[in-house]
Amino acid sequence: MKIAIPKERRAGEARVAASPEAVKKYVGLGFEVVVETDAGAGASFADEDFKAAGASIAGDAESALADADVVLKVQRPLTAEEGGPDELKMLKKGAVLAGMLAPLQNQEQVKAYADAGIMALGLELMPRITRAQSMDVLSSQANVAGYKAVIDAAANFGRMYPMLMTAAGTVPPARTVVMGAGVAGLQAIATARRLGGAVSAFDVRAAAKEEVESLGAKFIQVEEGADASTQGGYAAETSEDYKKKQAERIHEVLQKTDIVVCTALIPGRPAPVLVPEETVKAMPAGSVIVDLAVEQGGNCPLSESGKVVEKHGVTIVGHPNTPARVPVSASSLYAKNLLNLFTSLWDKENGQLKLDPEQDDVVKGIQLTRDGAIVNPALTGEGG
Ligand code: NAI
Repeated sequence: MKIAIPKERRAGEARVAASPEAVKKYVGLGFEVVVETDAGAGASFADEDFKAAGASIAGDAESALADADVVLKVQRPLTAEEGGPDELKMLKKGAVLAGMLAPLQNQEQVKAYADAGIMALGLELMPRITRAQSMDVLSSQANVAGYKAVIDAAANFGRMYPMLMTAAGTVPPARTVVMGAGVAGLQAIATARRLGGAVSAFDVRAAAKEEVESLGAKFIQVEEGADASTQGGYAAETSEDYKKKQAERIHEVLQKTDIVVCTALIPGRPAPVLVPEETVKAMPAGSVIVDLAVEQGGNCPLSESGKVVEKHGVTIVGHPNTPARVPVSASSLYAKNLLNLFTSLWDKENGQLKLDPEQDDVVKGIQLTRDGAIVNPALTGEGG
């Protein structure tokens, strides 16, 4: 069975879906691996490293993909309408395509996978069950993003992060507020704490309080006992009354804040607006906002995707795809997630992949298309 790793072609994407270490493991499991030349260049993995791990190197995407049974991608394939090359056309019928395919936002493309006879696996839909934690790409990439957000904030801040007591005087610590204490937010809290900042955080899920406090940060309570969480551990939409109270509390807190890291998201919905223009205006001059939610509309309406802007004396950082800004770590973790997935799917004895959704909740969660049809409940409207 042949696995192919093509080069990612979308703008700003420096990651790759396999590391040399992962390739070595695939080869050990009995797979044949082909890597497109320069696929790892953005993540500092050389063709030579892949070769040493047991892969063969293909001169272009077409030859890498032509007879691949499994194609490992970071982002969804480029289409002809997007300026191509049309990567989907290069896949053979019956191939398994695994990647962050953003299926809910690109349902037309999911139909194209079905029409092309591709079995697509959308890794964002990985169920959040204990067994799948090591395969959870949203978590691994959010961890990287949370870290980098604080580093970006520090780099754009005109003051130092830690408190310093020197002969020349005392430098106060950077007062940091993290909006949304999920995976990215908790990593942002931990990183800001390591840099010596004074950190507090908001979240709408009651469970976040203990996690925030266990990292040594302060949890900012909006309303005693309020909890907007779903069974899957994600946030739910909050009531209008809660929104109003939260906005007032945020406005008050941010008047004494130097750095804001925005990570708040609600699956399938635009990001909640938490730092409106009036609040930006009220922040101290020289403050920094890093909006990780910018691709979903942003927690701050003034953030602009792909830009660092200054508004009302506040620097607002809106880098999209933050994990790709730390390409080596992000690729290594992503590659490990995929390796864990395919190790669990691999039936070595029979030399085939176990892809029956009835037998495996992981397959049921991520399988988008099978035998020419869209099968995922999140897309067919049968739940999910
Ligand atoms: P996410 O990326 O969807 O959202 C980020 C955070 O924003 C969440 O904590 C959410 O509660 C918060 N948020 C949403 N609206 C908000 C608002 N209006 N104000 C303030 N905060 C708001 O979530 P993420 O990071 O993917 O994780 C969600 C939960 O899932 C966490 O509890 C995490 O620990 C859990 N989880 C469980 C896993 C497993 O069991 N396998 C794996 C990964 C995460």
